[in-house]
Amino acid sequence: MSNRTFTMIKPDAVRAGNIGNILQMVNQAGFRIVAMKYLHITKNQAEKFYEVHKERPFYGELTEFMSSGPIVAAILEKDNAVADFRKLIGATNPAQAEEGTIRKLYAASVGENAVHGSDSDENAAIEGRFFFSGLEQF
Ligand code: RTP
Ligand code: MG
Repeated sequence: MSNRTFTMIKPDAVRAGNIGNILQMVNQAGFRIVAMKYLHITKNQAEKFYEVHKERPFYGELTEFMSSGPIVAAILEKDNAVADFRKLIGATNPAQAEEGTIRKLYAASVGENAVHGSDSDENAAIEGRFFFSGLEQF
């Protein structure tokens, strides 16, 4: 079990002015920020990031949305980071997310669901490397 995960605050949450609220919840839940940047990815970059979902019906919509405005990308550290962060963000569909989770509070729909969280240690490492060099991790 590794102690790092990767997250993005998605364009919907950035547009709604929720960067600060979400980062506060992340810090209060005990995650340490290892790396962070604010950037607007291209459709091509979103397609590369979400390549595992290429065959899914929502791939076009997802990559369009993720390249529709700036995001905050970050690597986070905590014991049991991947599982604990997924608990903090809640279910993919905010209608099914538990009370008090980030998606319950700030997500509007399954497509525009405020935050990303890695689903495994392996993907956390791959996703972190996609956005950050070793020199950008502290
Ligand atoms: P994420 O990767 O963003 O943390 O979300 P997740 O693991 O909870 O969900 P995943 O199955 O990996 O799906 C990635 C993202 O695709 C969008 N999605 N749309 N329209 C749909 O039915 C649908 N299903 C998934 C969501 O933005 C989801 O977070
Ligand atoms: Mg996922």
